[in-house]
Amino acid sequence: MSTETSEPHEDAAPPRRLEDLPGPRALPFFGNTLQIRLADMHRQFEAWSERFGSVYRIDFGPRLALIVADHEVIAQVLRDRPQQFRRPLSGGRISSEMGFDQGVFFANDEVWRHQRRMVMAGLDPAHIKAYFPSLLRVTERLRARWQAAARAHAGIDLQADLMRFTVDAVAGLAFGAEVDTLSGDEDVIQRHLNKIFPALSRRLFSIVPYWRYVKLPKDRELERSVAEVQAAVRGFIAAARERIAADPGRREHPRNLLEAMLNAADQPGSGVGDSDVAGNVLTMLLAGEDTTANTLAWMIHLLHRHPEVLARARAEVLQVAGEPAAFTFDAMSRLDYLEACAHETMRLKPVAPIIAAEAVHDTVVAGVLVPAGTVVIGLMRRDSLREQYFSDAQAFRPERWLDGAAIAATSAKRVAMPFGAGPRMCPGRYLALLEIKMAAAMLLASFDIDEAGGAAGAEVPERLAFSMGPVGLRMRLTERRTVAAAG
Ligand code: HEM
Repeated sequence: MSTETSEPHEDAAPPRRLEDLPGPRALPFFGNTLQIRLADMHRQFEAWSERFGSVYRIDFGPRLALIVADHEVIAQVLRDRPQQFRRPLSGGRISSEMGFDQGVFFANDEVWRHQRRMVMAGLDPAHIKAYFPSLLRVTERLRARWQAAARAHAGIDLQADLMRFTVDAVAGLAFGAEVDTLSGDEDVIQRHLNKIFPALSRRLFSIVPYWRYVKLPKDRELERSVAEVQAAVRGFIAAARERIAADPGRREHPRNLLEAMLNAADQPGSGVGDSDVAGNVLTMLLAGEDTTANTLAWMIHLLHRHPEVLARARAEVLQVAGEPAAFTFDAMSRLDYLEACAHETMRLKPVAPIIAAEAVHDTVVAGVLVPAGTVVIGLMRRDSLREQYFSDAQAFRPERWLDGAAIAATSAKRVAMPFGAGPRMCPGRYLALLEIKMAAAMLLASFDIDEAGGAAGAEVPERLAFSMGPVGLRMRLTERRTVAAAG
């Protein structure tokens, strides 16, 4: 199969037309839309790829979309951004209709280019190291919350607690102010965001954009929430500017993501200003909260189901990192096995199981003519579960990501792509991996996991909203008596 995306008619054989591709049977006018179950769309698409092959079409009513499951073709499409492909325009339109400043996730063209530079400046490994003390405080709060639950013999709603952890971690960095949803439930902004993000996710996946024609009471309430959050973000920006003015050392060494973004925006020729910073404060929360929380939830579940893996990960944590209050950035970077557990979790349970890109011009993908404006949907997991690329592909085997298997691990990263690929690859990946390792290391060092499963016990169902998470995970913990000193 050709993996090229190119101008049409360059290939010797004429490209196939989307209309001629196989795909599920479509109804007149509605196409396949009535068949698609939004919360389960990724699995439905994966199942169709077994039936129709690695390139097929879906009819979204007015438009056909190209579905690709071959990782090389997907990687090529993702790498061909921003020239040949962009983020689908619908996302940017929906977020600005809701009243948000534009952020890098939905931006395209020049706006994206400038914002991407600013965001990257705040999320590179050197900056992440400076954020470590703030992340450690949040990790300690999660530990205190779980200690209280363990002492009360109470069950833990795992995802809800992990969301609190990632909210506090990312919001603390993006707002430049302490946010504490782990100790109490009273954070006002978070209450608004809990309305806003699910609404955004619903609108992104919605088939009829009713809100363009009628405004229901819940839409007006949403508008008020967005306005309040926007005002709060402007307040955080003003406060950060004052801090930087009072302590110019923060220009060199920003203490949080907000300061780093403001500094990058203030560089001559940056092409970005305060409204770009504001858009990206919220984008960090949107892109960084439930992706990281869901990955952690899946990882804890998989560790619990594989006691021999858990034991090895715990031994590494106790030897390398020791007592959670004394965790260091350097110790976290030496937790190779725990990091391999995260990679293996993301191979089996990628929280972004589909990535969409929209053709900017008419182009050819895998021998299929893709007209400008067509959405190409990459199925990120299909090849990750194939024996051809991973032996014993269904098994949870973190060893496959370790250095001893260096070549295999490098090529495995090219197949799995949990953070996407190319110029729009996730800029938050270093931060995400650090948060994941800190929370998991704290858990393994401080607690025995008595239970981390679903209501039904067996397979935990997957649910796709903005990201793909487990349904109904409950955890029970017992405190461990001794924590070894760091080696
Ligand atoms: C385990 C956690 C995470 C996963 C699996 C993940 C995954 C992804 C994926 C698949 C994309 C799309 C990449 C592409 O189009 O090629 C993305 C984009 C993005 N992510 Fe993450 N992400 C995670 C955590 C984070 C965090 C913690 C942040 C920031 C605090 C973040 C910020 C972003 C942003 C800003 C984009 C848009 C980049 C652009 O369009 O240029 N992500 N992420």
